[in-house]
Amino acid sequence: MPTAALRSLPVKSTRIVVLISGGGSNLAALLAAAEDPAYGAQIVAVGADRPSAAGLQLAADAGVPTFICRLGDYPERTDWDVALAAEVAAHEPDLVISAGFLKLAGPAFLAAFGGRYLNTHNSLLPAFPGIHGPRDALEYGVKVAGATLFVVDEGVDTGVIVAQVTVPVRDDDTEETLTERIKVAERAQLVECTGRLAREGWRVQGRRVLIG
Ligand code: GRF
Repeated sequence: MPTAALRSLPVKSTRIVVLISGGGSNLAALLAAAEDPAYGAQIVAVGADRPSAAGLQLAADAGVPTFICRLGDYPERTDWDVALAAEVAAHEPDLVISAGFLKLAGPAFLAAFGGRYLNTHNSLLPAFPGIHGPRDALEYGVKVAGATLFVVDEGVDTGVIVAQVTVPVRDDDTEETLTERIKVAERAQLVECTGRLAREGWRVQGRRVLIG
C-alpha cells in the first residue's frame, strides 16, 4: 500500500470512560488532549457517584455523555457495584479511568474491568494510600511527594504501578499548596501516560507495567 494511503487510515481510538467525584481537573486535561485525533483515545462517557461532581458539567460542555450512580440509591453496596459496572459497560470502554472517584470498585466491577481500570492517586504509593495523600505526606515530613497512576486491584491503592511523578515538598507548604503542586504534575502524567497506553499498548509482568 502506498505511504499516502497508509497515512490516511484512521488511527484506532481507545474508548475511555472516566469516573469522577469532584472538580474534574484531571478529566478536563484528558478531554482537552482527546480533542486531537492523534492522541489515540476518546472519552466516550463520564460517570460520577454524586450529582454535585462539578466535572459532570465539563463533560456535558464537551458533548460527552454522563451518568450518575449513587451508592445511596441501592439497598446493598454489591447492588451499586453491579449497577456501576453495567453503566460503564454500556459505553463499551477499552479503558476506565478513576480520576478523583472516591469509591472503591467492588467485585462485579473488577470482574468486568480488572486489568483495564486505572486510578490516579495523589501520593507516591505505596506511601500514603487513602484519601488524604498530600496531608499525610506533609505530616510525615517527606521531602518529595507526587502522584501515582496504577491499575486498580482489590486492595486500597495497591495495584501495579504504571507511572509516578515527583514534586518537591517546600518548608512553607500547606496541605492546599502541596495538593495543588501535585495536581499539576499528576494531570500531565495522566495525559501523557494515557495517550501512550492508547497508542502503544501495554502489558503487565508481575508488578511491572510495560508500555509498548
Ligand atoms: C486528584 O488529585 C486525585 O489524585 C485525588 O483527587 C484529585 C481529583 O482532582 N484522588 P480532580 O477532581 O481531577 O480535580
